Amino acid sequence: MNVSKETKPGRVLVVGSINTDLVARSPHLPRPGETIGGHEFSQVAGGKGGNQAVAAARMGAQVAMVGCVGTDANGAQRVKDLETEGIDCSGIEVHPAQPTGVAMVTVSDDGQNTIVVVAGSNGELTPEGIARHEAAVKACDVVVCQLETPPEAVHATLALARRLGKITVLNPAPATGPLPVEWLPLVDYLVPNEVEAAILAGLPVESESGARRAATELQRGGARNVIVTLGAQGAYLLVDGGEGRHFPAPQVQAIDTTAAGDTFIGTFAAQIAARQSLDNAIGLAQRAASISVTRAGAQPSIPNRAEVDSAA
Ligand code: RIB
Repeated sequence: MNVSKETKPGRVLVVGSINTDLVARSPHLPRPGETIGGHEFSQVAGGKGGNQAVAAARMGAQVAMVGCVGTDANGAQRVKDLETEGIDCSGIEVHPAQPTGVAMVTVSDDGQNTIVVVAGSNGELTPEGIARHEAAVKACDVVVCQLETPPEAVHATLALARRLGKITVLNPAPATGPLPVEWLPLVDYLVPNEVEAAILAGLPVESESGARRAATELQRGGARNVIVTLGAQGAYLLVDGGEGRHFPAPQVQAIDTTAAGDTFIGTFAAQIAARQSLDNAIGLAQRAASISVTRAGAQPSIPNRAEVDSAA
């Protein structure tokens, strides 16, 4: 078969978390100490790693995942879900003692959310575990990590990917403070949202100009390219060499923003792996994310390529 450069799928490896999301919809987010009545409950596939892998697969990439689930029914179901998406799950290990990760998600009627993650088996990913899956890193074009697995495992992944000449994407989520100095030089594309960019750079990010300042600071720290996602305000890209650009976002009525960032990252990684331009990758990622916020849940909200193309 003659496959053109434009249509050849790239190979994406996602190293990261796999969760079951327990989602309650409520009129508003509860305040500390408050009990409120919810009006809908669902249990869906989530976890930043799993969500990003699914987004990349639905955009047509060949996707593999390295992660860790427990021996419980949730773990088996999550792996089955990922396999149904065509994702190679041979890098997902089963921990004998820790339960599969769980996220308690509350979504208010105006589309805001709070998420509490109990890492469980995600916390058992180790540098040794990453080394066991070196072949999976070798086999891909782009490696994607987040921060829902132990930092030593994330650092080991980035270092291995760099040694093997792979393109690295780091979604620093959730961010709790600046990253260790040796990390950023290992990152080709650092993709924080505005909150994470502010925490990482130690600067306020409330607008495009704040995003530019934070991105400049993170690039000074060694990240090659920085993309700060700004929700409805779009995204700010600072490329290697210092040129910056704002990408406005499609305006939609959001009902649930859970996994919107993951949809952006997975789509972006799929496009970069397929050797598409940065403009194309960011544009498609924004369109996919803007569809995901109009739907409920994490993985159930992620569109496929045909849906993104037909919404253009
Ligand atoms: O980014 C959204 C995800 O964060 C949810 O699916 C939840 O599992 C947490 O990991």
